[in-house]
Amino acid sequence: MEKNSRFIALWDISTHCFSGLLSKIHPVSMFSSKALSWLRCFHNTLPVMVRSSSSAATLYHMNSQAIFERESKYGAHNYHPIPVALHKGEGVFVWDVEGKRYFDFLSAYGSVNQGHCHPKILKTFREQASIVTLTSRAFYNSALGEFEEFITNLFGYDKVLPMNTGVEAGETSCKLARKWGYEVKGIPKNSAKIVFAEGNFWGRTMGAISSSTDPESYEGFGPFMPGYVIVPYNDLTALDRALQDPHICAFMIEPIQAEAGIIVPEAGYLTGVRELCTKHNVLLIADEVQTGLARTGRRLCVNHENVRPDVLMLGKALSGGFYPVSAVLADDSIMHVIKPGQHGSTYGGNPLGAKVAITALQVLDEEKLAENAEKMGQILRGELQKLPKEIVKTVRGKGLLNAIVITEKYDAWDICLKFRDRGLLAKPTHGDKIRFSPPLIITEEQIQECSQIVKETIESLL
Ligand SMILES: Cc1ncc(COP(=O)(O)O)c(C=O)c1O
Repeated sequence: MEKNSRFIALWDISTHCFSGLLSKIHPVSMFSSKALSWLRCFHNTLPVMVRSSSSAATLYHMNSQAIFERESKYGAHNYHPIPVALHKGEGVFVWDVEGKRYFDFLSAYGSVNQGHCHPKILKTFREQASIVTLTSRAFYNSALGEFEEFITNLFGYDKVLPMNTGVEAGETSCKLARKWGYEVKGIPKNSAKIVFAEGNFWGRTMGAISSSTDPESYEGFGPFMPGYVIVPYNDLTALDRALQDPHICAFMIEPIQAEAGIIVPEAGYLTGVRELCTKHNVLLIADEVQTGLARTGRRLCVNHENVRPDVLMLGKALSGGFYPVSAVLADDSIMHVIKPGQHGSTYGGNPLGAKVAITALQVLDEEKLAENAEKMGQILRGELQKLPKEIVKTVRGKGLLNAIVITEKYDAWDICLKFRDRGLLAKPTHGDKIRFSPPLIITEEQIQECSQIVKETIESLL
């Protein structure tokens, strides 16, 4: 993808800045319709600026190009961002430094389910930040217990172990499973194994990349963690076979594989996984870091099949995008294997994160975001199904976790640049897939407007 996209990106950055400059010299509202149609010949961001009624006033003292260059100069090149420099977010929208408004169709990889800068979460954030932010777990604090009681009641588990990032929730779950394997299941010392599905993604630590089947994630970082077994996703026969090994302590699974390209398993797969884990006395760890918290139209994605994991991983939207907060939930029989001093994190369970997470969870229910995700997802997929099949060969997803798959003749990166020019931000993955995961507060009118942007963009390629 790096290949031809570099040229495209450069061209695009320059036209992008050109349009920003134009909008500064001549506020769009001042153009006559004749002048506007003339300008459209030059750059197709203009219709969006008109439609969005954003005045496109500069929001920051540097322009996009300068921001790209500064990041490139001083930051490690471990990401390949879409060339857009964001400065502000509110609800379903983000604005770039030139003041152009976009629909956010990535939601920070499913972290901003409640919408950018949600006012209720912001209020909690501000209030707690002026009381106390970090105490460490060397002492008790007044907020952590409140969070623990709230989240365990909400999800129906005895205990929670708070961490910060999603990958830490994964590491915590693996440690928990191994220790449970030795102390409860009776697996001989240092021989516990964990099963993962092909295409899994749970972060970037050594533990996470050791289970990865994507060379981009693991190549060049060996040696890897031992004790990992890989089975194909969505294949109960293979899982049944793998779980017969008495050294297996857990199976970690994403109910929908998000980073792999929104791979939705067949109906009944999760139920089958639950039955097999129970049959073989293996812990079922559900990685709901991205699928959880209303994203797929239920509070948890496993709720679609009424499956109860033994260990539940949450992250991302657990703070509504304000702060890294993750959590691992399990019952006492499992959680009790971790004793004081055996696991933790300086920031894990901090009062600021604890308070923010309570409010972020409350917002999901108060605003019925699971219901909205279910409804809006159906409308969105219905519209996406109408796209020309010679460009969009597949549409898949659940709730507001969706993807389109682009045919070989077209470039997903290039299409995302065109979406951007029309005021919608989405990110390609694995070269041919584009994820559509807007904040869950999106309205039907906005979904229709976004569907129209997608349709116009795709049809412009024909
Ligand atoms: C399913 C899943 N698990 C875990 C993670 C890791 O989360 P984080 O990036 O917060 O470490 C991700 C990140 O994208 C994810 O999608």
